Amino acid sequence: MGVEIRAEGLTRSFGTHTVWSDVTLTLPAGEISALLGPSGTGKSVFLKTLIALLRPDRGRVLVDGVDLPSLRGRRLYEMRRRFGVLFQDGALFGSMDIYDNVAFPLREHTRLSERAIRAVVQEKLKMVGLTGAERRLPGEISGGMRKRAGLARALVLNPEIILFDEPDSGLDPVRTAYLNQLIVDLNQQTGATFLIVTHDINTARTVPDNIGLLYRGRLVTFGPRRYVLSSDEPVVRQFLGAHLIGPIGMAEEKDAEQLAAEAAAGEVPPLPPVPPKLRPTALLA
Ligand SMILES: Nc1ncnc2c1ncn2[C@@H]1O[C@H](COP(=O)(O)OP(=O)(O)O)[C@@H](O)[C@H]1O
Ligand SMILES: [Mg+2]
Repeated sequence: MGVEIRAEGLTRSFGTHTVWSDVTLTLPAGEISALLGPSGTGKSVFLKTLIALLRPDRGRVLVDGVDLPSLRGRRLYEMRRRFGVLFQDGALFGSMDIYDNVAFPLREHTRLSERAIRAVVQEKLKMVGLTGAERRLPGEISGGMRKRAGLARALVLNPEIILFDEPDSGLDPVRTAYLNQLIVDLNQQTGATFLIVTHDINTARTVPDNIGLLYRGRLVTFGPRRYVLSSDEPVVRQFLGAHLIGPIGMAEEKDAEQLAAEAAAGEVPPLPPVPPKLRPTALLA
């Protein structure tokens, strides 16, 4: 079952560059949250900070009231085991077949027999629709299958929290739709707390319970899907509406002159009506 995660006042810099500061949000237990933002705004850094692969300069990450980044050694290791992570590229070992990739965390972190491992691997491959692909190498399967394999591997230790870094990047719209359905189904089956980093607007509109947007080093919004999808904040409207008009420019932000010219041309259009949330397959029958 899922657990609540609370980020409080998180700030992270590299040298003189502050990636984001004072990020505070709560990922409700068992719900799906999505984190959006233009490229380079620190979404991946945020995920890595949640599991203390990177440490914040300031702030806390609370799981069951324990500040995760302050942990070391065995206690950190035990806390990290409660997370499953799907990294951006699936992060599979290229020389290992799918079976061995998915079995890897079990061989590393448990003392299960090979027989018990087989049962878990087959169960997880079935959950992601990859039964029969055990002996294929990552290089021999499609990008969508690699994501599924990465997902099966993220599931093997029965995580309470799953972090997805752009699960939909590089996938065509139909593959993305299948993957999104899989994510919603897995959330229902596992009850785990999900955080999905994406810049796919359609994913953001239909998959999560909550949406956050990182922009220029700040978490400009975080809240229930319906609330964010009907926001009147110009940045939120521009990003979710994929408009050229608004504060987000080609590079970083637009200059004052350009913004003034656009203000004269009209404001960022309102967002379209909130679409229904994608329902788990089990509820569709
Ligand atoms: N290990 C690192 N060392 C120095 N700078 C980093 C490191 N990781 C990320 N950054 C910087 O942090 C910023 C945010 O990166 P990232 O989280 O990858 O953005 P996003 O995932 O939103 O595209 C970028 O400017 C990037 O160059
Ligand atoms: Mg990233």
